Amino acid sequence: MLIAISADSGVSAARIRRLIETTGLPLRGKEHTDYRLHLSDTRLELRMRDMQPLYVDFSAGKARHRRLHGGGKGQMLARAAGLRKHPGLEIVDATAGLGRDAFVLATLGASVTLLERSPIAHALLADGLRRALNDPEIASIASRMRLIQCDADDWLRSEQPRPDAIYLDPMYPPSGKTARVKKEMQCFHALIGRDDDAARLVATARRLATRRVFVKRPLHAEALGGQAAAFSLRGKSTRFDVYLPF
Ligand SMILES: C[S@@+](CC[C@H](N)C(=O)[O-])C[C@H]1O[C@@H](n2cnc3c(N)ncnc32)[C@H](O)[C@@H]1O
Repeated sequence: MLIAISADSGVSAARIRRLIETTGLPLRGKEHTDYRLHLSDTRLELRMRDMQPLYVDFSAGKARHRRLHGGGKGQMLARAAGLRKHPGLEIVDATAGLGRDAFVLATLGASVTLLERSPIAHALLADGLRRALNDPEIASIASRMRLIQCDADDWLRSEQPRPDAIYLDPMYPPSGKTARVKKEMQCFHALIGRDDDAARLVATARRLATRRVFVKRPLHAEALGGQAAAFSLRGKSTRFDVYLPF
């Protein structure tokens, strides 16, 4: 899929150059590609044909709703992380994506290192975090989130000290039931590509996490890498598999 960078006329050359350097994407006029990472005066957006733009916004919309009314430490993600007993956990989110789950974990008191290998997802997330740090209502939460562009398997193998917990939410395998996923997200997933190497990641994570590894899966999917979990939490369409240290 062809993707390029575009920018509003007021955006500084330095901001555009930084984005070209970090993503490796070319700068093109708006008319030249169907998929663009677009820099406006205020934010970075992924623009895709006739769809709604995609961007990271921790201050409003679903992220705000989940922060204020999402069920706190009772919600499945928090229970899977073990945050009820250990609120100040150091968690590595090894598949950060657009950072939605990491923001929930940080809201509930965890310090989260976010690892993301896709330059496009990383750029959108970095921009969302930059804006969150400038919003007094959520700046303290964002300050507990550290974003790194890397392959998580490589990073985890080289990192010391070992994290308390590691979270994995690799792209779901195609199931034929994608109708419920908004078309913007379907397109975004197509752009990012599949996570076929996730089984390797769960094996690495299990060797390194000192307290637990927790993995988000579709409710009826097989366990990641065929590795049986210590226990699972089940929701309507999602399951969290929890692995304890060997
Ligand atoms: C389904 S998304 C995660 C969504 C995320 N939990 C959220 O709340 O927004 C999976 C992401 O993991 C990233 N990913 C998969 N394997 C990775 C790896 N080995 N290292 C770094 N990032 C990885 C993909 O690029 C993709 O952006």
